[in-house]
Amino acid sequence: MTDGSSPLWAGRFSTPPAAEAHALGRSLHFDVRLATVDVDASIAHVRALQDAGLLDADEAATLEEALAAVGDDIAEGRFVFQAADEDIHSAIERGVTERLGDLGAKLHAGRSRNDLVVTDLRLWLLAAGRRIDGLVVALAEALIARAREHAGTVMPGTTHARFAQPITLGHHLLAHAWALSRDLERLSEWSVRTSTSALGAGATATSTLGLDPDMTAARLGMHRAFSNSIDAVSDRDFVQEFLAVAAICATHLSRLAADLVRWTDESLGWASLDEAYSTGSSMMPQKRNPDTAELARGKAARVAGDFVSLTALLQGLPLGYHRDLQEDKEPAFDAADTLEQVLPAMTGAISTIRFDVDAMRAACAAEGLYATDLAEALVRDGVPFREAHRRTGELLKRVDEESRSLADLTEEEWTEFGVVGGAERLDPDRSVASRTMPGGPSAENVRWQADALEATIAGRPTP
Ligand code: ARG
Repeated sequence: MTDGSSPLWAGRFSTPPAAEAHALGRSLHFDVRLATVDVDASIAHVRALQDAGLLDADEAATLEEALAAVGDDIAEGRFVFQAADEDIHSAIERGVTERLGDLGAKLHAGRSRNDLVVTDLRLWLLAAGRRIDGLVVALAEALIARAREHAGTVMPGTTHARFAQPITLGHHLLAHAWALSRDLERLSEWSVRTSTSALGAGATATSTLGLDPDMTAARLGMHRAFSNSIDAVSDRDFVQEFLAVAAICATHLSRLAADLVRWTDESLGWASLDEAYSTGSSMMPQKRNPDTAELARGKAARVAGDFVSLTALLQGLPLGYHRDLQEDKEPAFDAADTLEQVLPAMTGAISTIRFDVDAMRAACAAEGLYATDLAEALVRDGVPFREAHRRTGELLKRVDEESRSLADLTEEEWTEFGVVGGAERLDPDRSVASRTMPGGPSAENVRWQADALEATIAGRPTP
């Protein structure tokens, strides 16, 4: 080793690792983020050793204090890492051993980095999951607040990004919030499965030392201990599932972002992002670009990539610990970091975006938006829908060919068509108000949905 110290397995070896092999294997630069949870897991393990009679109470307390002190040193940047420290687990054990000598050397009894690293990562991801849950809630609440404000704001609803039927802005905003509520549900369900301690599994086959994994799990505030030591050290489902949940959430954010980009496009002009969430151009003075939304859209690609990386890493890997598994952490950290960056930016963008309600209403002058309402008016009078669809299509075609608009039709023409008072139906407020069925765009439904979503969020099992 560059500094002459021996690695953890020096007894059986006569040659230290080659510098380039050590460089390849070193994970300290990224797994240093596990320091706090590694100390917590190590303290729980110390208590297990004490319960098993392998440490007396004084020894356990001394080890616990040293672990906490090393943890503080790392957190405050005082800890001196050495080139030989392969990962955070070995660095912390070295720090403790340097403080305590022989007593420190008792710490690793009955455990392996294999059961330790997986417990650490579970603890770290559970904490990240709780932070992400809070950030998703904040964005959902911002959407709900804006939706309440715009419960009755009419706008063209689209399919294929083409004008379809009138909706309310509140209804559209809540569609995004409902998607986020499913992310919250997924996070909480994932966290239940993830809250499993692997400590006691050792390298692959537990130990002969009489440790109590259930007690250790309880000390860590985890729901349960592993049931199979091989599964305990091999399982990375919890990372893969976290990445799947994160990728789905990032996808939702990207779709919200895509709507913001579209609405703020000057050809629609339905909204403008606050300056604080826009950027100018270095060359074109007039520009106001939706970079925050574009980045939220683009970042979804990397989170999806994180999921794919981990899935590729795991598929075909036999059970047991393999060093390949060290590659699980960077995608996990990256996905959590990305969500923690994008979510608050989108919350800010949504809270401050200005909607041009007049432009949205003006766009509702497009008469095609009311074609389905006209066909349904015929259906309510007993006309079979296919015929109603055809008759309405023919009416639109005729009006188009005569270079007229539906608003120009006389009452006789409407009567002939089969809808009395047809002209009054070309009205976005009337159109949305008439869709009273649950789940629809009327202002009343939007307020009902907002209440229901708030109740769902408030009553959710938190991760
Ligand atoms: N740094 C390693 C990882 O992240 C810790 C486990 C090492 N275990 C081993 N058997 N080499 O996976």
